[in-house]
Amino acid sequence: MLMSNTPSLENYWMPFTANRQFKAAPRLLAAAKGMYYTDVDGAQVLDGTAGLWCVNAGHGREKIADAVARQLMTMDYAPSFQMGHPIVFDFAEKLAARAPGGKEAGLTKVFFTGSGSESVDTALKIAIAYQRSIGQGTRTRVIGRERGYHGVGFGGISVGGLVNNRRVFPLLPGVDHLRHTHDPVRNSFVKGLPEYGADLADDLERLVALHGAETIAAVIVEPVAGSTGVLLPPKGYLERLRAISKKHGILLIFDEVITGFGRLGTPFAVDYFGVVPDLVTTAKGLTNGALPMGAVFASEAVYEAMMNGPESQIELFHGYTYSGHPAACAAGLATLEVYEEEGLLTRAADLADHWQDAMHGLKGLPNIVDIRTIGLVAGIELSSRPEAAGARGYDIFVDCFNKGLLVRVTGDTIALSPPLIVEKQQIDTMVSMLGDAIKRAA
Ligand SMILES: Cc1ncc(COP(=O)(O)O)c(C=O)c1O
Repeated sequence: MLMSNTPSLENYWMPFTANRQFKAAPRLLAAAKGMYYTDVDGAQVLDGTAGLWCVNAGHGREKIADAVARQLMTMDYAPSFQMGHPIVFDFAEKLAARAPGGKEAGLTKVFFTGSGSESVDTALKIAIAYQRSIGQGTRTRVIGRERGYHGVGFGGISVGGLVNNRRVFPLLPGVDHLRHTHDPVRNSFVKGLPEYGADLADDLERLVALHGAETIAAVIVEPVAGSTGVLLPPKGYLERLRAISKKHGILLIFDEVITGFGRLGTPFAVDYFGVVPDLVTTAKGLTNGALPMGAVFASEAVYEAMMNGPESQIELFHGYTYSGHPAACAAGLATLEVYEEEGLLTRAADLADHWQDAMHGLKGLPNIVDIRTIGLVAGIELSSRPEAAGARGYDIFVDCFNKGLLVRVTGDTIALSPPLIVEKQQIDTMVSMLGDAIKRAA
């Protein structure tokens, strides 16, 4: 046992967890290094999910830990309202030098947050405030997409499109949704981007016709939808969304909380697809998951438009106690160095073919209805058991864990997104372990 005094499980209210079920049969992780977790009983668990899509450089990176420790002893915390500290400016400058789409895309203004959810709410608020600052104050509506996941703030669940995250809560007024792009009849088992569905971007025209462009501030999408079960954009879809949003003066927000920092084999999805939005939300891989932090990249045009009025005026009444936290900045700076030294922001591109072939090798196993991959992400969709949506996926998740593989499950789709340091042989191990679990769950 790595944990000598096992604590009571009673007091911690666990997030996105069936608390009573978990506490009856807990899965407790105690240590992590490289590609592996170690559980409290000392068993090794291969990390097929980079923690929660965030530990892109693998676990236990000394460079990051050392930088954080040094920063905490130098200056643990400093306020960021009407105050600053050099490391946050340094981090913003270094991020801007590697901004989504490269410097020429102009997404070089960085607003720090504490998480992906905060990044999403920040981006939505920036979009609405920007529209007002350019004399478009009637544009307060924000558009999301069915099956989207944008975190758990009220803004994020409102533009999000996952029913379980929405049904219990009141939502922002004035929100509408594009249809999702999942078309299993025409696109199943396709390698690469789906052929069919670019025209679904025309849904934005439909919403403009319904609400009036002058009421719409922004549209937000995940370039590759992750949490709903890995949905890839159809060929030409994002380009079309960009063209329509631009035509109507609607800001386009890409939520890159998952796709940012190398997941697709390029630094950002903006680079992968060559489509430049106005705002990009990030978190997770920003600090390799070592400390909580998010960042919104805003275009220079958006930022400059907000820098009006008297110089003594606060331009955006928004920010968090932990915006630009010094220790998180130190983690982020060290993370960027690790990514660069090891070429991790493009490593997924070298592995993508092997990854794709390995995952598609599962085709034909019981109940698999689709396999989707891009970069180092995979979604393996299984048919649901009658009257028990999600049960098969959950059983496979638990079975894999007990055998030493961490996968992620949403509904009956298994998602894999390992640290970007993964080796080919570890990919093969993942596929073989997952395949065995899928057979056992048949
Ligand atoms: C696309 C996307 N946006 C936002 C979030 C929310 O991030 P966080 O959990 O850090 O608030 C997530 C988390 O998975 C995400 O995948």
